[in-house]
Parts: sequence; structure tokens; C-alpha cells
Amino acid sequence: MNYPYVTEFRQSLINWFEQEKRDLPWRHTKDPYKIWVSEVMLQQTRVDTVIPYYNRFIESFPTLQLLAEAPQEYLLKHWEGLGYYSRARNLQAGVREVLENYGGIVPDNRHDISKLKGVGPYTAGAILSIAYNKPEHAVDGNVMRVLSRVLNIHDDITVPKTKKIFEAAVEDLIDPAHSSSFNQGLMELGALICTPTSPKCLLCPVRDYCTAFHEGFPEKLPVKSKKTKMKHIYYNVFVCEDSTGRLLVEQRPEEGLLANMWQFPMIEQGEDCIETFTKLYGVQAQEQQEILTFKHIFSHLTWHINSYYMKCTTTLNGQWLTREQIELLPMPVPMLKIWQKIK
Ligand code: ADE
Repeated sequence: MNYPYVTEFRQSLINWFEQEKRDLPWRHTKDPYKIWVSEVMLQQTRVDTVIPYYNRFIESFPTLQLLAEAPQEYLLKHWEGLGYYSRARNLQAGVREVLENYGGIVPDNRHDISKLKGVGPYTAGAILSIAYNKPEHAVDGNVMRVLSRVLNIHDDITVPKTKKIFEAAVEDLIDPAHSSSFNQGLMELGALICTPTSPKCLLCPVRDYCTAFHEGFPEKLPVKSKKTKMKHIYYNVFVCEDSTGRLLVEQRPEEGLLANMWQFPMIEQGEDCIETFTKLYGVQAQEQQEILTFKHIFSHLTWHINSYYMKCTTTLNGQWLTREQIELLPMPVPMLKIWQKIK
């Protein structure tokens, strides 16, 4: 890499991080398990959202052992509302592997840690650098944005192999004596200063060493080709209550979107949607009331939901549970919205 300011860049970044870093709960520990939990939660999720989830999670599962033993439903209940629920299942699977194959010690090298379920190159590097202070790259979207600007890298970051370019750059730049602060400094700079739009270059500790700042167009980087198109699906959701006050719920399939989460029955909208529903579930609907109409946006998918409440008589399929039982089940956010409205 032809970048003449390595020493100055490192020092300015690390000093800035040490002085300005936010007080975040996972910054009070070096426990690799807790760092792992925080990094998994922080993937695709904002820091402010993660904080209460992290605190609750660590309170319930303070050790690898306790997480390994947790029933999946109880685990998912702790993840409810965070989204990307496979992260929680993979984390538990990875933790079980650490107990089975590594005597309960999270591996401190990339070769072994990368074998764990759900631990990709980013998570591996984040745990190794933050918990073990190893000089390993941890490149996510924030880090690519920062380095594309500092180093004037114009490769398209939506192309998977572009990440290798940034990983190699971090390998060259990282301060081996302060790997934890260096990597967290890059993350923090991306979060607080080197933002996607309106970066705060005048407050930036490394602007003297930043090519994009000198050229005057930091917002033009990173190069990102067009996003994949959003898909839209239209559903009716039916909240059925029987004469004893129990409600009809079902568990989603083991694989795919929102795997194993619980929901009120939902059917894609169409002409004879209600007939399809009553046949499929063997219920007889009496009165029917609209509850809520709203949309819920996943990363590349939008659900448009109409929801209905019905008093029902008989049923063949699905499970009828009391309100107290439903309260304990992990449900996706759109279902929680409906549940909040009717309970
Ligand atoms: N984003 C990803 N990892 C992070 C961390 N350790 N601290 C703050 N933001 C992050």
C-alpha cells in the first residue's frame, strides 16, 4: 500500500478513540464471550437499539454455559425485536462448539475461531482484536466507508470480493500494539464522524491524512452500485379467539425468514382469502373486526399487513393458547404490533 501517513494515522486515530469513545456496556469487559455477543448484536443494528438487548442478554446468560443450555424459545425471546433471528441461533450453536471443542475458551486465533457457527471474517477479527488485542482486520460497512475515503479506494463495496482489498489495507495499517483501540477507533469514526452523508470532517482526527477530504468530495465514497430491489408481499393476519379466550397461533418453519418464531395465522391476500383461511385452519368465523393496517420493512422485503380479529368456534389446526402463554413466545415485530393492539 502506498500510503505515507501510517504512523500519524494510527496515533491520531487511537488517541481520538481513547479520549472520545462512547461509554458502551461492552466496552467495560474483555471477556471474549461478551464481546462476541455484542458484535453479533451490532451487525445490521444500531448501537442505541443494541444497548438494552445486550444488557438483558448478559444478565440472563452471563456465561457461555448458560447460553449453551438455554431453550431456544427463551433465547429468541431475548432477541425479540432485534431482527435477523438466525444470528441468535448461530450464536448459541457457536457457543456450544466452544464448550465441546475448545474447553470453553473462545479461540484466540483466526483459524479456529472462524470455524465457529456464525463467526465470519468480521466477527472473528472483532473478537480477536477487541478481546485479545490481536492485530486482525474487522471490516464492516462503516470501516469500508472510512478507509475508502482515507485511502481513496474506488472499488464497488457491494461486490463481495472488494472486502479483501479493505482487509489487506487494515493489515497494513493496524497498530499491532493497540489493535483493539485501532479497530474500534475505525468503527467509532464511521459511526460518529465519517458518516454516509454530511461527514463531520472538521472534527475528524485523521482529516490531515485523508485523501477524500483533501480532494473535497468525501460523500462520493464509498462507491456502491444500485441496491437490490425491494419485494412486496400483502398478507391478511387473523387473530382468532375461542369462547374460552384462547387464541390461535402457529410456529413458523424451522428454516427461512423468522424461523421458529410464533405468529397469528397469516395468508397472502387474494380474493377468497378468508375462505382459504377458515378451510385451512378448520375454524368457523363469527363476527370479524379490523385491527390494524400497516407495513413492516425487512432488509429486502416489505410486508403489507391487514389484520382482523375474529370470534371463532371450532378448529382443527394450529395451537390455541392463553394470553399468558402467548406472552412467553418469541414473536416477530409485526405480530407484536398486532398483539399490543388487541391485548
Ligand atoms: N459496531 C460494530 N462493532 C461495534 C463496537 N464494538 N462498538 C461500537 N459500534 C460497533
